[in-house]
Amino acid sequence: MRIDIVNLTKENLSDAPEWDSHPFSCKYCIYWEFPDEYGDSVKGKRSYLLQKKTLWLQDTKRIFENCGKLMYLNGEPIGYAQYAPPEFLPRSSYYHSDSPDYDAVLISCLFIPRNEFRGKGFGSQLLENILVELRKRGIKTVETFARKGNPDNPSGPEGFYVKNGFVTKKVDLEFSLMRLEF
Ligand SMILES: CC(C)(COP(=O)(O)OP(=O)(O)OC[C@H]1O[C@@H](n2cnc3c(N)ncnc32)[C@H](O)[C@@H]1OP(=O)(O)O)[C@@H](O)C(=O)NCCC(=O)NCCS
Repeated sequence: MRIDIVNLTKENLSDAPEWDSHPFSCKYCIYWEFPDEYGDSVKGKRSYLLQKKTLWLQDTKRIFENCGKLMYLNGEPIGYAQYAPPEFLPRSSYYHSDSPDYDAVLISCLFIPRNEFRGKGFGSQLLENILVELRKRGIKTVETFARKGNPDNPSGPEGFYVKNGFVTKKVDLEFSLMRLEF
């Protein structure tokens, strides 16, 4: 079994895993980046959405540097992650629980789309890879909005983050803000 985790680039973004329902892939999802545009009017416009996502990626990398990862198992893409300071992810201001700290990097997405690859430690491995990279870059805090009682959430459920050492910074009925200082 060979695992590769690589930084997200405009060249490899098209490799992001795909699935059969909306939004079909993280590469077509602009939920965090362009919240006012996300919705029915652009649903299904894959080439347009990929273009928007690519522009966001290029702009974010220019200022913040690397902001995402792809995970491959034996050459097949199985995981996607995305992270940046909250000002690059305007959707973060829509959450009720609290605003993420401006000194923290927000993990907006961490996703293993196919069920058969879940629960095998791949998500934790992807998270650890992000933390190692950020630590090298001098970043010491990450936050995420984790969902209670339901894994269907861009970065996954609360239980995953508790298991990975995060603490609850702000409790919310549905999306608590979780924080890890490392
Ligand atoms: C959440 C997710 C990233 C975790 O990755 P994973 O590889 O499955 O998780 P791991 O195997 O590394 O799990 C580590 C620990 O996290 C916890 N955990 C994982 N998935 C969990 C879940 N669904 N609920 C509660 N805790 C969970 C467990 O405690 C697990 O430890 P254990 O195996 O000792 O019990 C992955 O399962 C996923 O993407 N799920 C789908 C989420 C979703 O629907 N997202 C929508 C995106 S738009």
